[in-house]
Amino acid sequence: MSLRFSSPSNPLLLHSHAHFIPLPFSSPILHISPKPKTLSLTITAASSSQPLTAQPTITPSFRTKPPHQVNILVVGSTGYIGKFVVKELCRRGFNVIAIARERSRDDAIRQFTGATVCFSDVTDAAVLERSLDSLALPIDAAVSCLASRSGGIQDSWKIDYEASRNSLAAARRHGATHFVLLSAICVQKPLLEFQRAKLKFEAELADEEAKDPTFSYSIVRPTAFFKSLGGQVDTVKDGKPYVMFGDGKMCSCKPISEQDLASFIADCVVDETKAGKILPVGGPGKALTPVEQGEMLFRLLGRDPKFVKVPISLMDFVIGALEFLAKVFPALEDAAEFGRIGRYYAAESMLVLDEETGEYSAEKTPSYGTDTLEEFFARVVREGMAGQELGEHSFNLQEKKIALED
Ligand SMILES: NC(=O)c1ccc[n+]([C@@H]2O[C@H](COP(=O)([O-])OP(=O)(O)OC[C@H]3O[C@@H](n4cnc5c(N)ncnc54)[C@H](OP(=O)(O)O)[C@@H]3O)[C@@H](O)[C@H]2O)c1
Repeated sequence: MSLRFSSPSNPLLLHSHAHFIPLPFSSPILHISPKPKTLSLTITAASSSQPLTAQPTITPSFRTKPPHQVNILVVGSTGYIGKFVVKELCRRGFNVIAIARERSRDDAIRQFTGATVCFSDVTDAAVLERSLDSLALPIDAAVSCLASRSGGIQDSWKIDYEASRNSLAAARRHGATHFVLLSAICVQKPLLEFQRAKLKFEAELADEEAKDPTFSYSIVRPTAFFKSLGGQVDTVKDGKPYVMFGDGKMCSCKPISEQDLASFIADCVVDETKAGKILPVGGPGKALTPVEQGEMLFRLLGRDPKFVKVPISLMDFVIGALEFLAKVFPALEDAAEFGRIGRYYAAESMLVLDEETGEYSAEKTPSYGTDTLEEFFARVVREGMAGQELGEHSFNLQEKKIALED
């Protein structure tokens, strides 16, 4: 299917679909509660030129409609997971409105052939509202895969909290009754600024549901993504050792592929049993420690394992120094935060934290999907990490090791 500009007066919008259901009114939907969870009573006006007449109608939940009549807004559509979510929702036959920023225009146009791509700015509530107004399409549900690209303190609050909040408000104003948030399992032990920003938004989703019983949310908290564990494949392939912290058993995770996670997120859009819930999710198979991941990689390469163990105290020393310097040079605050992010992932498992025992539990971490880390490593060994962008704040153990040796 080819892409075309929808109208010369609306250069922000690219359509590839013809079957969106246009909004039959120009004023916001007025919800009248209380009412059953799956029903909403709406008052609509046929058009802005006609007098507004109260016309009570019982609107069934979007979940009862066929996918081609359901409009889903996706913000963070151009991210590692967002791209797969857009494609998965399109594959399932939904009408997807993918919000992208201008700088990602080429990427979005190339990849989202089944979606309507709307170029806008999620960090500016007024701009986002105007963009959605100009689409004149009702929104049934929204999915947010937004995340700070840097993980810096201010940027985390700007994206993981404020931009997500802007997206919720805009989606709600255009009729959305369900919001799926891609969060992270690590927010259960919040020591980092991006985790606090995410938690604040998670709480606002719960508040929104409490205010309006016709609204629901699903908060998806995945364990580690494959891309986050593939950073050493190329260097190990080049003969270098696998680098890990402590004894390589301090943390573990049940990694999940981007496709499996996208499929789980798409399930959350339509599956009412997943509404009103916080959903931790990992991939298939047992939880893996860094040493097990390294052994798997050497096995695939047909080589004897070669490890370098970096004491975690070294990171504490570096972070301590950066935190001290940041008091004098505030520009170093983000550098200290990046150190804390690296330290966090070196020591904390990406598994459900059992409230009873206070320990991470592989058994209590649900598994979903079929893709395994071993298949992913085998693919990266063959094809490299191209397309597995790690993000600007990813913590590259190999570079750290090289710096230590210098
Ligand atoms: N990495 C892991 O192992 C892991 C594990 C569990 C959970 N998570 C969570 O999963 C979430 C998504 O991760 P991801 O890797 O898919 O994220 P990502 O690839 O970094 O994508 C972030 C998305 O947010 C958008 N964005 C960032 N800054 C923006 C700005 N200033 N204005 C407008 N849009 C902006 C990006 O747009 P552009 O493309 O235009 O930059 C992109 O669409 C995060 O919340 C992360 O914490 C990650």
